[in-house]
Amino acid sequence: MGAVILGTGSCLPGRVLTNHDLEKIVDTSDEWILSRTGISTRRISGKDEETFKLASTAARRAMEAADVTADEIDLIIVATMSSHMLMPSCACFVQNELGAKNAFAYDLNAACSGFLFALDSGDKYLRVERDKKILVIGTETLSSRINWQDRNTCILFGDGAGAVIMEYQDDPRGVVGSNLFSDGSLWNLLYMHTAPSLNPELEQSDHPGTHILMEGREVFKYAVKAMEGAIHDLLDRQKIEISSIDLMIPHQANIRILKKLVSRIGIDQEKVFINVQKYGNTSAASIPIALDEANREGRLTRDNLLLICSFGGGFTWGASLLRW
Ligand code: UT7
Repeated sequence: MGAVILGTGSCLPGRVLTNHDLEKIVDTSDEWILSRTGISTRRISGKDEETFKLASTAARRAMEAADVTADEIDLIIVATMSSHMLMPSCACFVQNELGAKNAFAYDLNAACSGFLFALDSGDKYLRVERDKKILVIGTETLSSRINWQDRNTCILFGDGAGAVIMEYQDDPRGVVGSNLFSDGSLWNLLYMHTAPSLNPELEQSDHPGTHILMEGREVFKYAVKAMEGAIHDLLDRQKIEISSIDLMIPHQANIRILKKLVSRIGIDQEKVFINVQKYGNTSAASIPIALDEANREGRLTRDNLLLICSFGGGFTWGASLLRW
């Protein structure tokens, strides 16, 4: 018994950036990117494709699928770290775009794990406020936060948004459980500054800029180990065997991370949904985009057990189980 997903939606910007396009920007090759990451293309947002616009389109598609109107939404949680403003929140812009005048709205930043954390917050909210409907979104335009001269990072990320509508149902379906973690001591392996402060007391010299900085190898190592641990604990606690999982949707960071994780937890490769080759790492948007694609492709049927997991800056990571 818990928060059931009533509908899913996603939105990808129109512009496709290929590995060959990147060869013209930095010293890299299609072969290097494909073999190290599994990524072929990613989407890049343009004018009128701000983070909240992608989010609002994904939300409208989820609302249509769920047959829910804007007036019926009570809460909007937006997981993002790339809104066009720090204040107001991206969620407030989405609320305004949708005309969801009965909803309160806030952002949540847990980097690439944002959607997983937002889903858990939404589930807990609905367990108390049982007659409400909520919108949970993951949305990013990281193309605006990337140093396009840094070949270590610019090849990895892409833009997009995904959304789900949820409500509590007195039913064995819904969120079965979550297992979430953070370790702030490892912040400096993957981070992004805000713009330098204009407060003279906080003046920062040698400001490295507002783009993503990453120790890729270290992130890789922690990501596999952390997600493996979170999944094992969660399955043990729920007394569920890995063979009972019908579909796994991991955060789409890198095909090598996913392959290593899949072999360590022992899940059948065919049960793992992967679309990293098309969109790259869309951070908080990656799981809800993949969830929407899997759903629309008919990969999920009623009562299926779905496992999702993520890892990102913070570090933040975790896993959740849902009965569809
Ligand atoms: O949500 C979590 C977000 N973060 C991630 O998912 C990142 C996790 N990490 C990774 O996916 C991998 O560490 C990367 C794909 C980022 C890098 O792969 P790697 O196998 O760890 O490569 P590396 O950083 O150890 O670099 C190997 C070589 C270096 O050259 P030298 O020093 O051996 O001469 C790099 O300078 O590859 C070079 N290199 C590149 N070469 C061509 C780094 N980036 C590129 C590039 N094209 N884009």
